[in-house]
Amino acid sequence: QCDLQGLWRSDLGSNMTILATNTAGTFSGSYHTAVAATNKHILVSPLQEAQQHRSIKTHPMFGLTVQWQFSDSSTAFVGQCFVDHRGKETLETIWLLQEEVLSHKDTWNATRVTTSIFTHIK
Ligand code: BTN
Repeated sequence: QCDLQGLWRSDLGSNMTILATNTAGTFSGSYHTAVAATNKHILVSPLQEAQQHRSIKTHPMFGLTVQWQFSDSSTAFVGQCFVDHRGKETLETIWLLQEEVLSHKDTWNATRVTTSIFTHIK
């Protein structure tokens, strides 16, 4: 069984806190990114669950979005939680970082995508 709740550290050094699921059945939390595409001062930013499949309770799958408090971009993560034979939990995710551009001519440069692995640290 993999538990999404708690503090996670990504391969980029970012910290993500997932809070307990609320009565409506969704979670929220906060994201402290270690890196940014902008030069602005990084602020801890809220995250919202977008979707979770409750059918696979042992390795929950989820989608979440982060609303950056210091930039006009937004990021969506989708992924799944896994546990190895030693009980170490990891989130295997892929994310899209969408930047706001001034014109549709700039959309070719508006989206970044990469995979990211998080480790449950607390
Ligand atoms: C921005 O630069 O406009 C906002 C911060 C974006 C941080 C990105 S989201 C995907 C990747 N994973 C992280 O932990 N940080 C970067």
